[in-house]
Amino acid sequence: MYLPNTINDTTLIDLPKIEDDRGNLSFVEENQHIPFKIERTYWIYDVPGGQVRGGHAFKEQDEFIVAISGSFNVIVDDGNEKKEFHLNRSYYGLYIPKGLWRQLENFSTNSLAVVLSSTLFDEKDYIRDYPEYLKTKRQ
Ligand code: TYD
Repeated sequence: MYLPNTINDTTLIDLPKIEDDRGNLSFVEENQHIPFKIERTYWIYDVPGGQVRGGHAFKEQDEFIVAISGSFNVIVDDGNEKKEFHLNRSYYGLYIPKGLWRQLENFSTNSLAVVLSSTLFDEKDYIRDYPEYLKTKRQ
């Protein structure tokens, strides 16, 4: 199996921000602001200090990660190069297409990571073993 994409296919995407004296509003629409149809939304919260999430790749799932509250870092790794993104605003997010290893870390207190996914949950879509992941990038 060969998995496509490199860290250069990972992009920060600005979302609309409707500023108002009553507070700001942002939104995201499938196939408009992000290049996929949203099949699932999940969120990561109450992360104890120093904990790391992720640490795997997806064969099919594309995703878009937003720091709705607080901040954290996302490290994307294509087996050749790594890039670190700091997410700390709710009006932009990180698009990560399939085939990339990624890890979330350095969560601030009360941070909330919302992940929009192009697929339903399927454990078979995960590659959780890094040496196995590397093999998929080098064929
Ligand atoms: P996992 O994706 O490994 O978490 P993270 O990448 O943030 O460390 O998921 C943790 C557990 O939750 C794992 O047993 C699978 C389960 N899970 C679901 O059942 N549905 C989902 O949509 C997600 C994302 C995870």
